[in-house]
This record gives sequence, structure tokens and C-alpha cells, in this order.
Amino acid sequence: MEQEILLQCLRETEGYLSGEELSRRLGVSRSAVWKAVARLRSEGYPIASAPRRGYRLDGPPDLLEKGTILAGLKTQTFGRSLSVFKSVDSTNEEAKRQAAQGAPHGAVFLAERQTGGKGRLGRHWDSPPGEGVWMSLLLRPAGPPAEASVLTLLAGLAVCNTLRGECGCDAWIKWPNDIVAGGKKLCGILTEVAAEMDRIHWAVVGIGLNANQGAFPDEIAWKATSLRLETGRRVERSAVLRRILLELEEAYRLYYEERRPGFLEAYQARCISLGRRVRAERGGNPLEGEAVAVTAEGDLLLRCGNGRLEAVRSGEVSVQGIYGEPGPQAF
Ligand code: BTN
Repeated sequence: MEQEILLQCLRETEGYLSGEELSRRLGVSRSAVWKAVARLRSEGYPIASAPRRGYRLDGPPDLLEKGTILAGLKTQTFGRSLSVFKSVDSTNEEAKRQAAQGAPHGAVFLAERQTGGKGRLGRHWDSPPGEGVWMSLLLRPAGPPAEASVLTLLAGLAVCNTLRGECGCDAWIKWPNDIVAGGKKLCGILTEVAAEMDRIHWAVVGIGLNANQGAFPDEIAWKATSLRLETGRRVERSAVLRRILLELEEAYRLYYEERRPGFLEAYQARCISLGRRVRAERGGNPLEGEAVAVTAEGDLLLRCGNGRLEAVRSGEVSVQGIYGEPGPQAF
């Protein structure tokens, strides 16, 4: 009830409405106003706040709604089966549960908020409500398990192309699966696979895209960014999601159906790691060299000190000049 009245007050006001005035109109404390604003924000209402001025409604809510997403979706398969959650532990976990129940190839699981968002290497993925695109795509590819890492590359390229084409953002791929802009991380991709020796049962490609965050918690502010921070505009998350699915479906079709490896050229053209000094680990041993290429299997090739080419498959890599890594002299 408080939320509805608050919303009404903000709708009727052109500029800012002070917290004091709102608490008077609603007949509640300032902290109750603050809580109601936080709840509305978590539902997707873009409410700006400014010190000493108060609150202002910046437009209609950007909600992730199944009907709206499907209405503009141009894919054939990806996202045609779509589950949208207000809150879920992790869309990857949900996709894996549904994979075991027979969910179809191309099914998409999307959430306004994840309570246990997962990053790579067992890390937590911050997934605040209403601000990101937290989604997982279930795939049932015909290829061998070795091809699974290519799925991450396909997804990275699809996201990067979307951010450039749809949002005008100067996005790049940090091999294998981070999308970066201005030296900070915009998006991460977590691919999980269930496979036997010679075939993949299913793969879940989880994409976490920071869209409309206006700021990040101190612990990650030095390395995280959002589309809004990079472009100065809020984005319509449904439109971004639709475009990612379309780009990814086309990339997937070219790769798996027509066996066209042309994506590798496109991937390399957008890979910011190439031509830079990279530190990686292989089999517990440190490797350092200049990144020179990405192979058809999805490995990163480093030219090391002795002139030898070494392939890195996955794990953590630090790239000179990205996420505050030092420049050439110090590296
Ligand atoms: C990374 O560490 O860079 C990968 C982050 C992947 C986060 C996404 S958000 C949607 C999906 N669900 C999860 O729990 N994780 C992925």
C-alpha cells in the first residue's frame, strides 16, 4: 500500500520529491520511505535519488516479462521456451534441474534476482534485483565434449556484438569469457556441461550482464562496470536479451549446422587479450607471454620468452591493462 501511494506521488511530480514530504504524505517515517523506495527499485522502477532533493521517478519500470520478451523475439528456437523468475538461487542451477527433467534445447531461464548467483572458479556472482540480465541457456549440442569450450566463445561473441550493435558500447572480449569495456568487466559467462566420453548430454551457458547499475559495491567497483555507466543511458533489458539470443542462435547455427568456423576470425577481432602480455597457469605452473591467437578448440596461444607457443585452455588469466593490471613496464 505504501509503495502504491509512493509511486503515485512520484508519478504526479515532475522533478524530485523530498523524503520529508513523502514521509508526511504517506504518514510514515523517513526510513519507511527509504525501504519502500528500495522495494520499488528491486521491482524494476527506476527511482533516482539525490542528496537534499529526494526521489524522482525516471520512467516506466524496466521489468522482465515473458510476454514482452516473446513478443519481440526473432529467434526460431532460443528462448521459445522461457522461464522468468522474480527470484531464484541461480539460473544455471535452475537450468540444470530442468535439463534433468527434459527441458528442450534452447530453453532460457531468466531472473530479476539471484540469491546464489555463481561465477567461475566457485566465486559468488553479485546479482542485484532489476539491474542486470541474469540468464541461462540450455543447449543439447551434437558435438563431442571437447567442443564445449567453444560454446563459451560463441556466447562471448554474441554478447559482445549485441552490446556494440544494440547499445553502442565499446565492448571487447577478454579471453575466454569476460566482456569488458573501459578496462572493467561488464559481463561474465559460466558454461557448465554434463557429458560422457563422446557426447554432451547438455550444456548450460550462464550469462551475467551488468545493465543498469549506477554504482557497484566498493569491493568490486575497481573492476566492474555496467552498460549504463559505460554509455550514460539505461538500457531496456528485454531488448538486450532478445538480441543476445538472436546473435547466439545464428552463431550456434553457423558453427554446428554449417560447420563454419568463421566465428573464430570474428572472435579474434574482438578479443582484447590478443597482442597483450598475459599471465596464466597451466597444470599448476605459471606461464607468461604475449597472446597471439585463439585456436579452433578455444585455447589461447601464448608466445613465451623462449619463442615457444604454449596453449592455455581455461582458468584464470591476467591481461595487461585490464582490471587494473599494470602496464608494460611493470608486467
Ligand atoms: C564469471 O565468473 O565471470 C561468470 C559469471 C556468470 C554469472 C551468470 S548470471 C546467470 C548465470 N547464473 C549463475 O548463477 N551464474 C551465471
